[in-house]
Amino acid sequence: MDAEIESVAVLGAGSMGHGIAEVAAIAGYDVVMRDIEEELVEDGYDQIEWSLGKLAEKGQLEEDPEDVLDRVSTTVDLEAAVADADLVIEAAPEDLEIKRDIFADVDAASGPETIMATNTSSLRVTDIAEATEHPEYVCGMHFFNPPVKMDLVEVASGEETDEGVVDAAVEFVESLDKTPIRVRKDVPQFVVNNVLTPLMGEAGFMLDEGDVEIQDVDAAMIFQRGYPMGPFELNDFGGLDIFTHSRDQWDLPVPDSIRSRVENDNLGRKTGKGFYDYEDGEGVNYE
Ligand code: 3HC
Repeated sequence: MDAEIESVAVLGAGSMGHGIAEVAAIAGYDVVMRDIEEELVEDGYDQIEWSLGKLAEKGQLEEDPEDVLDRVSTTVDLEAAVADADLVIEAAPEDLEIKRDIFADVDAASGPETIMATNTSSLRVTDIAEATEHPEYVCGMHFFNPPVKMDLVEVASGEETDEGVVDAAVEFVESLDKTPIRVRKDVPQFVVNNVLTPLMGEAGFMLDEGDVEIQDVDAAMIFQRGYPMGPFELNDFGGLDIFTHSRDQWDLPVPDSIRSRVENDNLGRKTGKGFYDYEDGEGVNYE
């Protein structure tokens, strides 16, 4: 197949969904962003507006933010969102059944050559694609948080993905001015999360054993290893519930220091507290 991508639908307006929609709009695509409730869609739209404002303020946006926003439309209607899309990017919660339901609906409501991409971070593309009649049109397109700031995108093939679909997905990622890597084997968590989640897990196990201080580990990885965030700060950033859920799905061990925080609803930045306390503007402090 030889696909030309002009219009994009993003399913999900959460931190990944709205970020992906924003990135596509910045690159000049018309984007429909859809979520299941009006309030979620509005929150996502507001986040895009905030982020574009920040980029403009720092001289990192070539266009007027309003012109970029004009390319983003919103809806709660899945069929309307995908009907005219050349590419659909799903960024729904990390749950196989939810994603399978969405892909079955997208397959039924979209055109015969629509590329259906999942932003899954921990599931297999093949398991999601099985819910459709056209698994050859399904691929992984895994962005990193926050999409507008992170350069890498993993483009993953399922067992039945057409090579032309992968080529088109890679070209699309390049058109966003991002760097794609092809993940040819359909392993859960692809490349980055396979390496990253054990790092965050190992830091948690060391904390369980009382061997380390949170700030010391993060500071070591930042100042000695050159990471932008240490493993605890990064886990707070992505959400400790997301980390725990992705490990549990594959029966991988989760440190008590992480699980207990999740049980107490201390999920990281989004709840104001995780390994660090973000309330009252405190946040991360390595001193
Ligand atoms: N849009 C616009 N501006 C944003 C923003 C966004 N989405 N997010 C943050 N900013 C702004 C902040 O508000 C702040 O603005 P201010 O200076 O006016 O207060 C500014 O950017 C932050 O700038 P900094 O100079 O402090 O930080 P950097 O820009 O250098 O880096 C970062 C910020 C890109 C988030 C960096 O800390 C980083 O790379 N962190 C690691 C992130 C990472 O590893 N993500 C991947 C996680 S794994 C994953 O996503 C997998 C998935 O499956 C879950």
